[in-house]
Amino acid sequence: MTSIRLRNVSKSFDGDGRAGGAYTALDRLDLDVREGEFFCLLGPTGCGKSTVLHLIAGFDMPSAGSVEVRDHPVAGPGADRGVVFQTELALFPWLTVEENVSFGLRMRGSDAGERAAILDRNLELVGLSKHRRKFPRELSGGMKQRVQIARALANDPDILLMDEPFGALDAQTRRRMQEEVVRIWTEARKTVVFITHDIGEAIWLADRIGVMTRGPAARVKEIVDVKLARPRPAMTPEFAEIYNALSASIHAEAEAMLNE
Ligand SMILES: Nc1ncnc2c1ncn2[C@@H]1O[C@H](COP(=O)(O)OP(=O)(O)OP(=O)(O)O)[C@@H](O)[C@H]1O
Ligand SMILES: [Mg+2]
Repeated sequence: MTSIRLRNVSKSFDGDGRAGGAYTALDRLDLDVREGEFFCLLGPTGCGKSTVLHLIAGFDMPSAGSVEVRDHPVAGPGADRGVVFQTELALFPWLTVEENVSFGLRMRGSDAGERAAILDRNLELVGLSKHRRKFPRELSGGMKQRVQIARALANDPDILLMDEPFGALDAQTRRRMQEEVVRIWTEARKTVVFITHDIGEAIWLADRIGVMTRGPAARVKEIVDVKLARPRPAMTPEFAEIYNALSASIHAEAEAMLNE
């Protein structure tokens, strides 16, 4: 069953398609994400990955085409979709770590006891229990990203939309967070759309990987099925084979972009 369906989606932004014209980031893009799958989106920088995620999240509307979640057109953000943004500015600067993480629960009117339990569990999960009373300005980039992850998980959405969530983390923490996300996904069978630049990370995480063409006018160029058994050791010939194919595919787009 399809969870997220994009059909003929175009997205233009005012200005700089040169000479002051609109810039067409996406052009008639199609994408289907299945219910319960872990879907990774790869593509060269600036191709439109975050734009796709923002459309699914309902933070922006397509210029043309349709974006549907479980057969309903996306009209705005909703509690069914939890978002971890690429930018750390997504946190409320005037709220502490714990207030940021429990914000959604508070809005939903969950009772104080339940809220405290969920808060404790998720702060522990991302290793921020000791920093719970700090404000975002008092945190490192990686810590701020982990607050966002805890906030998204605390709301327990059916769909997790994650935009390079582990980009600012050190290798150790990153590995731990990857394992946690896979564990949560395995247990709760959420639908995950996960953007990354890291091909190895995508192969380690995903059921399927979508590769986007370079922008402007980007689309999904190919979908790669990752049929490796989990957990996935990175050094097997099968892993390397998928890695090399994806690497060549993305490299071709990046090269073409440089030569344009
Ligand atoms: N709000 C906006 N206004 C104008 N142009 C925008 C806006 N958002 C994105 N763009 C343009 O759309 C294109 C796609 O941007 P997007 O952020 O989706 O790329 P990305 O694939 O996420 O890149 P990265 O890998 O660097 O995060 C870029 O050329 C960008 O300049
Ligand atoms: Mg992006």
